[in-house]
Amino acid sequence: MAILPITVFGDRVLRQKTNPINQIDDQTIGLIRNMYETMHNAYGIGLAANQVASTKSIFIVDLSVMDDYKNVKPVTMINPVILEVSEEVEIMEEGCLSLPNLRTDVERPAIVKVKYLDTDENEQMLEADDLLARVILHEYDHLIGKMIPDRVEPKVKKKLQKKLNNIIARKEKVDYPITERKL
Ligand code: NI
Repeated sequence: MAILPITVFGDRVLRQKTNPINQIDDQTIGLIRNMYETMHNAYGIGLAANQVASTKSIFIVDLSVMDDYKNVKPVTMINPVILEVSEEVEIMEEGCLSLPNLRTDVERPAIVKVKYLDTDENEQMLEADDLLARVILHEYDHLIGKMIPDRVEPKVKKKLQKKLNNIIARKEKVDYPITERKL
């Protein structure tokens, strides 16, 4: 296993739509293991493949590092498809390993229904609410090239701009490996 450098805002791969995979081979399983190691090393609760510079449609979520979610099992979603979202929305403060030291309120649907393949290539379906729904929607966004700044009002984005420029310039202090320069 290996800890991989995390791509940050400004890296083009984060703006690319990822591609569904046809076959879950050893290379894919290796990538997923590395994603878990990379995410845990950075104390993250979710990570999408393009955050480690892969264009595969995969993300992982593990809330169990948080006190209130200790019993929530980690989930690996391959080729996820959002089937339904609630009209009800929730506002919660979010961060992202690809946006170091940036936190802001983001409005998202409160409930999400998603189908995906697990690592045994079985189709699974999950309906989630609360923090799990939030993280799934955040990670799914990564797979379609979207990030937090795309989900806030223009005036909020404007306020974040200085921080975003610092992130692009690698001026933010980060406690985990990130890509050294713009990818
Ligand atoms: Ni993120």
